[in-house]
Amino acid sequence: VLADYDIDPHRGFLPPELPLTSLLDPYYSKWEIVIEKLHALILSRRIRSTVDRLPVLSTVYLHSDAEWRRAYVVLTFMLHAYIWGGDIPEEVIPPSISVPLLEVCEHLDLPPVATYAAVCLWNYKPIFADEPAEDLNNLAVINTLTGSTDEQWFYLVSVAIEAKGAPMLPSMLEAIAAARRGDSSTVTSCLQGLAQCITEITVIMQRLFEHCDPHVFYHKVRPFLAGSKNMGDAGLPNGVMFDIGTGPTEFRQYGGGSNAQSSLLQFFDIVLGIEHRPTGVGPDDDRSQSESEGLSAKPRHNFIQEMRQYMPREHRRFLEHVGSVANIREFVDARRSDKALCLAYDASLAMLRDLRDKHIQVVSRYIIVKSREQRRNSVSTNPPISRPVMNLANVRHGDKAGSKKLRGTGGTALIPFLKQARDETGEPAIDAW
Ligand code: ALA
Repeated sequence: VLADYDIDPHRGFLPPELPLTSLLDPYYSKWEIVIEKLHALILSRRIRSTVDRLPVLSTVYLHSDAEWRRAYVVLTFMLHAYIWGGDIPEEVIPPSISVPLLEVCEHLDLPPVATYAAVCLWNYKPIFADEPAEDLNNLAVINTLTGSTDEQWFYLVSVAIEAKGAPMLPSMLEAIAAARRGDSSTVTSCLQGLAQCITEITVIMQRLFEHCDPHVFYHKVRPFLAGSKNMGDAGLPNGVMFDIGTGPTEFRQYGGGSNAQSSLLQFFDIVLGIEHRPTGVGPDDDRSQSESEGLSAKPRHNFIQEMRQYMPREHRRFLEHVGSVANIREFVDARRSDKALCLAYDASLAMLRDLRDKHIQVVSRYIIVKSREQRRNSVSTNPPISRPVMNLANVRHGDKAGSKKLRGTGGTALIPFLKQARDETGEPAIDAW
């Protein structure tokens, strides 16, 4: 069943074949040259003029899945470099990017923005081909926006997490099948394996500190990862326009890269029966969404649900399928006297909650602390701003208000979103801890 969803039993949501490091047809060499020189073009402020001069290439020479994916990586990196690689963000995307990018996105059913698939899933290679490709000790990235080791490591940690979690896909599908046939001991051992795996993922996540410096991340890397939704504070209030050379077009807005686009993390939530509400809606909030926001307001959107549209199509379909068969929470709930089973289930939830807790600590060091420093500095010294700086509006507010207003690159209200997702993770526990 996994193969039907383009999922490899060993690599999970990483592609079944290693990503291409360059497009196969020499027709695309002009793109590959830009990507190869991306850092230099950004540093020299020549990225926009170079892209403006590129011809509008056709997508007819893309054949295999791997080639379409590579084209998506190349064009989304070029897109973000174009938008954020100047003194102020550029909101009009020229036809040399827009035309092929929109075609590639249509083909892959992905949005025109650097998603988690673009920067992580489809952007890695082994250091040595004869060693396991997905071990953090043997991983390298294919492309970066900044050329920094910090950016490389930021992506590689996620690739290693995907690889570590991969065996959980067949294992938890087996648990679902076991629950269906009433085989409690198999469900228990699968849940024990899941709890252990999530612990190991937390350890990998914390290795981010080894080679990703918070200062470099916050000031150099992160500004390039931003999307075009809720990015008014970063100087992109309306989103972007994709000029395809046929006259005036409309602004569009997309969330930037976010780990909520990792199908693995959403898979864990789904198999464990964790439900994520729209941000700001509490567990006992039984008012309808439109009531709670006033009659004229649109229903609050559920970011985690929305992020499925930013995942590769087959993975999105897989999550829908798993959602329709997930039965473990009910199975455990109906067997409360089976202590080993309940313990294994609660342990999985606790480990996932712990992962989200530690993730908030990581976010604190990489984003919150850095943004406070930035606000302090800009209030006391008012330095000239030469790079797109996130959340300039926060300068006017105290620290607390500033942190509350911080947005993730995906466009969420960062801290309320992360804390709520963490708290929701514990909610289905059999024995509240
Ligand atoms: N989503 C992460 C951030 O907001 C990358 O910086």
